[in-house]
Amino acid sequence: MNEAEYRPGLENVIAGETAISTIAGGLQYRGYRIEDLADHATFEETAYLVLYGELPNQNELDAFSGRLQANASVPPQVIEVLGSIPPTASMMDVMRSATSLLAHWDAETEDSSHDANLRKSERLLAQLPVVLAARYRLRQGKQPVAADPSRTLASNLLWMLHDEPPSARQIRALDLTLILYAEHEFNASTFTARVVCSTLSDLHASVAASIGALKGPLHGGANERVMDILLAVESAEAASEWVQQAFANKTRIMGFGHRVYKEGDPRARYLKSWCEQLAEETNHQDFERNAQIIEDAVVSQKGIPPNLDWPSARLYYYLGLPIDLYTPLFVVSRVVGWSAHVVEQLDNNRLIRPRANYTGELDRDWLPMEGR
Ligand code: SDX
Repeated sequence: MNEAEYRPGLENVIAGETAISTIAGGLQYRGYRIEDLADHATFEETAYLVLYGELPNQNELDAFSGRLQANASVPPQVIEVLGSIPPTASMMDVMRSATSLLAHWDAETEDSSHDANLRKSERLLAQLPVVLAARYRLRQGKQPVAADPSRTLASNLLWMLHDEPPSARQIRALDLTLILYAEHEFNASTFTARVVCSTLSDLHASVAASIGALKGPLHGGANERVMDILLAVESAEAASEWVQQAFANKTRIMGFGHRVYKEGDPRARYLKSWCEQLAEETNHQDFERNAQIIEDAVVSQKGIPPNLDWPSARLYYYLGLPIDLYTPLFVVSRVVGWSAHVVEQLDNNRLIRPRANYTGELDRDWLPMEGR
């Protein structure tokens, strides 16, 4: 076996092939530029595109949306568990547990055929917003709000969270983030899904494992940590001091840097104007000012541009969403990408099993207990 070059963190290692998205030269889903999808598509159109490979015509979109609305509920036993999990549990852990629970009530869990996996993907896409909203309300001692079958996924999520009709602007802003978070090639959580399903394990197991990977602050968990930063700096001076202190302490600044995008994350660039508009509308201009001070310093002094989490956290805050829902919202969106990669992996599967360079000792003599 020729010694393939080892790259820590598999940096720049080609670990497979995919036709779902590319981030080389800018992000495209199934060949469509993310900027065009963000400008013209809805999350439902985008989810259909990622899962099925083509933009839906009106009949296909209506049928797909109808299936999502018809599946926007979870078994009462799952609601009961969501109400009994201790209030201190991480919302990401609840999303992971709920995904495992939903497998018990899905009649096709053990069917990993192409079409069954697509049906399960649609059910999970419909159910995870219900789980998130139900848990959020149960944790406050409130009853869950049933999904409104006339609403889109983003609209329903805001409705089920707050039990009041969201504005068109709030719906559009949330829909936009779901489009931008939906898919991103072989990121850590997506690669996790491909490894799990490559053993011929099932879709729910792959998604539950992906949620575990996404929870980490080096990956999806960063967007919640971004808001911690902005809530800690209450003035322009404090923002300047904070960032210089972070440099001095060599702190990892959440929301900046990316393993692949070294010239900047196109998704972050796209969301910036939305943050500015919503900040104006919700009187949060001070957050935008402080965020810009920190961003200018990190970019100019460290050459590290922001990633999607830097603006998305602010946008969620301006939408009045609780901070510990930010990464679960990433789950609600990225389940589309994870599912598409599971389907693609199984369409031409080969068990994913890399090798390791052994760095331990060799050929040691046995050591009896009395000699240890
Ligand atoms: C996502 O992969 C994807 O596609 C992920 C994602 C997706 O859509 O799925 O895009 C979503 O996960 C976005 C990233 C969210 N994470 C964060 O915002 C956490 C903060 N970012 C970093 O931890 C870091 O930038 C990573 C983990 C995202 C990428 O890091 P790499 O490629 O492993 O780079 P590195 O850790 O080797 O850093 C290179 C240098 C180091 O300096 P030196 O030790 O060489 O002197 O850059 C520095 C790092 O210290 N650096 C940072 C930094 N990111 C890199 N320094 C301060 N703050 C940062 N954020």
